[in-house]
Amino acid sequence: MSAEYSCHFSTEFESIIEFASIEANNLIDKAASISDAFFLIDENVFRLYFQGRTLDRPYFLIKANEQEKSLKQSEAIYSFLLKNNCSRSNTIIAIGGGITTDLAAWVASTFKRGVKLWLVPTTLLSMVDAGIGGKAAVNYQELKNVLGCFYPAERIIICSDFLKTLDEREYYNGLVEGIKTLIILKEFQRAERILNTKTITDHDIEYIARAKLGICQRDLHDKGERRLLNLGHSFAHIFESISNYVLPHGIAVAWGLSFAVNYSYEKQLLNVEDKTILESLINKLLMINNESLNYKKILFNDDIIGSKLRHLILNDKKNENAIKLVLFEHLDTSIYTEVSIESLERFIIAEFKRIKLNS
Ligand SMILES: NC(=O)c1ccc[n+]([C@@H]2O[C@H](COP(=O)([O-])OP(=O)(O)OC[C@H]3O[C@@H](n4cnc5c(N)ncnc54)[C@H](O)[C@@H]3O)[C@@H](O)[C@H]2O)c1
Repeated sequence: MSAEYSCHFSTEFESIIEFASIEANNLIDKAASISDAFFLIDENVFRLYFQGRTLDRPYFLIKANEQEKSLKQSEAIYSFLLKNNCSRSNTIIAIGGGITTDLAAWVASTFKRGVKLWLVPTTLLSMVDAGIGGKAAVNYQELKNVLGCFYPAERIIICSDFLKTLDEREYYNGLVEGIKTLIILKEFQRAERILNTKTITDHDIEYIARAKLGICQRDLHDKGERRLLNLGHSFAHIFESISNYVLPHGIAVAWGLSFAVNYSYEKQLLNVEDKTILESLINKLLMINNESLNYKKILFNDDIIGSKLRHLILNDKKNENAIKLVLFEHLDTSIYTEVSIESLERFIIAEFKRIKLNS
């Protein structure tokens, strides 16, 4: 067993991230011995890692899909907690990907006005993104994450050994969010190395998770700096919607990053040298995924998008009064307020045409 250690920041809230360089099975043994725990476990993770084990503490299996990230599943968990006499002095320990950690945080924040929460993220995306920063959420009436609050976990235990069972698509989803954060941090060399080796090391995971935690601790409520983490996402939401949510999130964000670079260039916020640096990274990000090229042919159909585009742009929940985009200013990222919806529409349609021509 190698070293385990904690890092601890304190600004808007306190969360301890523990990087456990041990086998997932050993981590589960340790967690299982926590005497006040109530476990919420992704059912796939349970199937992969809990077979043949008896858990002495109560546990509930989470169905990890977007339809089940719901009030209905929350109610089932509330009933389970009540039936087993969960009190505020107990600790909810969620083990799973972002759906499990978001849902568990929502339940922990609302049950008896707040139960202690620990998270054990098991997907790459949840290790570098969803498990960090205290956003709790469920979907409602087909709207993603529309019910939620901020409820940072007391402890987040990251054990990369869980990644050995993750499939390629899920791995890529996490990789893209990790690279996105490195781009925001201007850590281009680290991003380049990850893309060249197609491997994100434990040190990289730790680096990105700590950086995200730092940003969220300075801006828990998403009023300023934290919004930069939406880089590429406004465009990605449009692509996901056009594809009826068939397009994997990672591919949508990777394309979204590319659109953000090109729009920044069009707005003369980026010079050609900086554009080349960013473009080279993002092209690598797109090229290492075979699926992204297949989707390219289906997705970028300017005939389909034309009539829907305005609605999709205005529908983004971040666009309450004006269109807010995260764009590049030189190599920095900043929030850009777009006053002309026509300009954005024209750009997106032109990009679709350009990509279609080149496919
Ligand atoms: N709170 C935030 O700040 C934040 C940020 C980004 C995304 N999110 C949310 O995160 C969710 C997506 O999270 P995700 O990508 O982790 O997806 P997920 O939780 O749906 O997990 C993806 C799939 O991987 C399986 N899985 C989990 N761990 C595994 C493992 N170790 N081995 C094999 N399979 C495993 C799950 O059962 C599921 O089928 C979305 O709902 C999104 O809204 C939240």
